[in-house]
Amino acid sequence: MLVSAKEMLTKAKAGKYAVGQFNINNLEWTKSILLTAEELKSPVILGVSEGAGKYMCGYKTVVGMVNGMLEELGITVPVALHLDHGSYEGAKACIEAGFSSIMFDGSHYPIEENVAKTKELVAVCNEKGMSIEAEVGSIGGEEDGVVGAGECADPEECKMIADLGVTMLAAGIGNIHGKYPENWAGLSFETLDAVQQLTGDMPLVLHGGTGIPEDMIKKAISLGVSKINVNTECQLSFADATRKYIEAGKDLEGKGFDPRKLLAPGADAIKATVKEKMELFGSVGKA
Ligand code: 13P
Repeated sequence: MLVSAKEMLTKAKAGKYAVGQFNINNLEWTKSILLTAEELKSPVILGVSEGAGKYMCGYKTVVGMVNGMLEELGITVPVALHLDHGSYEGAKACIEAGFSSIMFDGSHYPIEENVAKTKELVAVCNEKGMSIEAEVGSIGGEEDGVVGAGECADPEECKMIADLGVTMLAAGIGNIHGKYPENWAGLSFETLDAVQQLTGDMPLVLHGGTGIPEDMIKKAISLGVSKINVNTECQLSFADATRKYIEAGKDLEGKGFDPRKLLAPGADAIKATVKEKMELFGSVGKA
């Protein structure tokens, strides 16, 4: 059964580790992530962007697929199904469809409007026992066609949003989605520290987990980050393993063109990436 992310993140914040949010794109992605979480006895959050939701034929299809897998694969670790960077309308659609967690990304609205809309969604999520993530300060890079520059959040605004009763808070600290450019300035630990000072026990979320050096990940966790989002890195591992399979001509040998064979190296590569991240984040054995 899907669970809210509240309990797993409260425990992570208290235990000084982070739970990974891994974005899903299809059945292979979902299966690889769930099997790895179960094997490592780690809690996990499956992230679904609005674009990926559309690609997978809508939120109801996603809920059906994930619930089916939890049962058929005998998954016992806590799993949250979470809308990633949701619009107000997307958040409502996921609440309706049976997600257990949503992110409402109102970071592009003026702060008053972000507050008003977040407040309304907090009330709905509380009533349904769902977790809700809010964002202050836009995360840079490109996601679903939206490009941002990697702002640093205003800690006072973070406090304002945290006080609305959200479950977890994403604060921009110079992080960006996708690969980091050569001249990236790194995470702003000064901002993170200031945000944590004002928001106390609130689990903080680090987006753009792909390509952040290990020492920065560890420092971010020590400063209150308890959820880390990873998307691009699984895509890169999948693409790399699939390319190698094709380049080696394996699809031309025997029944190597069978999708169950063709997609297997990519699926295994996702498992390896997820394992590596769970070990780095410290969530292994915490289910
Ligand atoms: P990356 O694609 O950079 O790993 O970021 C993922 C993310 O933050 C999803 O919200």
